[in-house]
Amino acid sequence: MGPVIALVPAAGRGVRLGATEPKAFVAVGGRPMLGLAVDGLLATGMIDQVIVMVPAELVDRAVALLPPSPLVRVVVGGVERIDSVRAGLAAAADAGYVLVHDAARALTPPDLIARVIAELRAGHPAVVPVLPVVDTVKSVDRAGTVTGTPDRATLRAVQTPQGFAADLLRTAYATPGIATDDAGLVEQLGVPVRTIPGDPLAFKITTPLDLRLADAVLTAADSSVVGNL
Ligand code: C5P
Repeated sequence: MGPVIALVPAAGRGVRLGATEPKAFVAVGGRPMLGLAVDGLLATGMIDQVIVMVPAELVDRAVALLPPSPLVRVVVGGVERIDSVRAGLAAAADAGYVLVHDAARALTPPDLIARVIAELRAGHPAVVPVLPVVDTVKSVDRAGTVTGTPDRATLRAVQTPQGFAADLLRTAYATPGIATDDAGLVEQLGVPVRTIPGDPLAFKITTPLDLRLADAVLTAADSSVVGNL
């Protein structure tokens, strides 16, 4: 069925985090997020190659901080996340399956990654981890006035890794469309996207508060704290 290749978009500037360096290079618990995210992928023992996409000027730094494994490659990302994933896909020519996994989800448990791969191998061409939404969500107009309240029971927050049959993701990226995640492009092709239970630890480190939470999780003296999240 072909190799499993993980693409790790890490070329974002991390403006919302307010850090002085790109987000994936910001340390969590003493280690750059990018290193933690790649370690999590390799720890599954189910991935044939990891391709990391970073800003052009940070390629050397990324190589230096990543494990010196023949399984890990670094390529230059793009202006938008979609451009970075496209660059990674171009470098993953022999992939049978592709996982797209944000470096910013640095604490993602290997078990979650393994479950996504298992669903792909079971024949589902598109798989995403999701969690129930805890807040009520409103839609608003440009003035900020509420225009609707979708039924929360039908909503899910989507995490990564998102897994795809490689040919399907290539077709999705070759088809004009707009989406805020990779599965969104696949949905536009009319292909069913399977959801599996996500994990709270796969949260995206986006704001300074997220960073403090991630630091606290990693430095928690009592590892049972993590087990109970
Ligand atoms: O900005 P956001 O948090 O949505 O970014 C999600 C992931 O996409 C991050 O890991 C970020 O580094 C990556 N990204 C990228 N190339 C960009 C923008 C974001 O690889 N141009």
